[in-house]
Amino acid sequence: MEYLRIAGGRPLEGRAALPGAKNSLLPILAASVLCDGPVTLDNVPDLADLHASLEILRRIGWEAEYLDGRVDLCPARQVRSRIPSRAAGAMRSSVFYLAPLLHRTGRVELPTPGGCRLGERPIDIHLEGLVKMGAAASVENNRLVLQAPNGLQGTCFELRYPSVGATESLLMAAVLARGATCLTGVAREPEIQDLARFLNRCGARITGAGGSTIHVVGVRRLHGTRHTIIPDRIVAATLLAAVTGAEGDIVMEGVQPSHLAGVLDIYRRMGLRTSQPAPGQLRAVMDRRPSALGKAATGPYPAFCTDAAPLAAAALLRAEGESVIEDRVFENRFDCAAGFARLGARACRQGRSVHIWGVEQYRGGEAEGGDLRGGAALVCAAVAAQGESRIGGLEHIRRGYQDLAGLLGGLGADIRLCRD
Ligand code: UD1
Repeated sequence: MEYLRIAGGRPLEGRAALPGAKNSLLPILAASVLCDGPVTLDNVPDLADLHASLEILRRIGWEAEYLDGRVDLCPARQVRSRIPSRAAGAMRSSVFYLAPLLHRTGRVELPTPGGCRLGERPIDIHLEGLVKMGAAASVENNRLVLQAPNGLQGTCFELRYPSVGATESLLMAAVLARGATCLTGVAREPEIQDLARFLNRCGARITGAGGSTIHVVGVRRLHGTRHTIIPDRIVAATLLAAVTGAEGDIVMEGVQPSHLAGVLDIYRRMGLRTSQPAPGQLRAVMDRRPSALGKAATGPYPAFCTDAAPLAAAALLRAEGESVIEDRVFENRFDCAAGFARLGARACRQGRSVHIWGVEQYRGGEAEGGDLRGGAALVCAAVAAQGESRIGGLEHIRRGYQDLAGLLGGLGADIRLCRD
């Protein structure tokens, strides 16, 4: 049994470089399947979800290597259209392989996708769009089967909700479809812009990514390229939570502050002072207890993002006053509230919301994360606690953080990986 042993209550100080973004990396790895030539990706963090993706790529025939923050991919001589159950079960992002494999083989089979249990998480919008582009969908032996023997056809499609994953799936479908595609009501996250930049470098013709309408003119083939993954704004949000709760003075390097707009608004309301000492840097200073938020809610980008919500909740455990954060994206985001309470803080989940009654100090304790960001939030909460904590559930945290203990330890937190 592995866990993190954290002696909390030390202010954070120093500099930390941000790794590449998981949520940018995973769709770009899948999009590489659309390319006829080799792809190299830089600034790639060593995550459990990276390895699950590399397993999918190898099982469908790609050569895939990872070394020192770099992924090298070489196209398959013969592509297999079955996504392996183990990798699909481990990671929801296996859904990203639907459109690329449809283009490659005319047929794709996907077992039930896994990932964080944040609620229902259907993929109906992905499927509606793919069907509108000419795919036929059926279920055979508990597997989703999509077929498009004659390829996909460009179309106009309005997303009824700006789903990040559906926008990315449909972008991957549109780039090699016959004719033009217009997607409206799409998600606007920076990771979608990164995917579009990657695909355009490979020869795709995408305009409008980052806005709510995207136009794509289909091309016959895509070549390979070399691409650097954008910095991880959720890791940045994690460090903001840690320094707000534990106090201190830190500088993050390799940040794009514009990607953090909605998140920074929330932290400024808590009293965090931020500045940009140099391009690509963000300094965050906290020298008092945070102010409570009253009410706050998450929403699609550029609003306060859902992944940052449990992290912000951790920072608010020491706030003066009450805060309620409602997650309007996922129904089950705040399972970590029970863990906060086990650390001695006063928080509880109420439906889609977390309610926090801030206390000046809480003692720490034993808690186990049940999902990726909830687990990271427990670590941040333990770093701000006045005593010792033991946080388990590291398999969830490793899906999205290469070395969270090392990152926080580098800023002066007393945090150690232990095994029983
Ligand atoms: C992505 C991110 C995840 C983030 C989320 C919202 C990746 C790998 N993951 O997840 O970290 O928390 O965006 O910013 O990038 N929905 C449907 N039908 C669909 C698709 C989604 O109803 O076909 C609903 C979901 O159940 C959810 C909401 O739309 O309630 C948002 O989901 P979506 O934006 O698709 O999130 P993901 O792409 O899964």
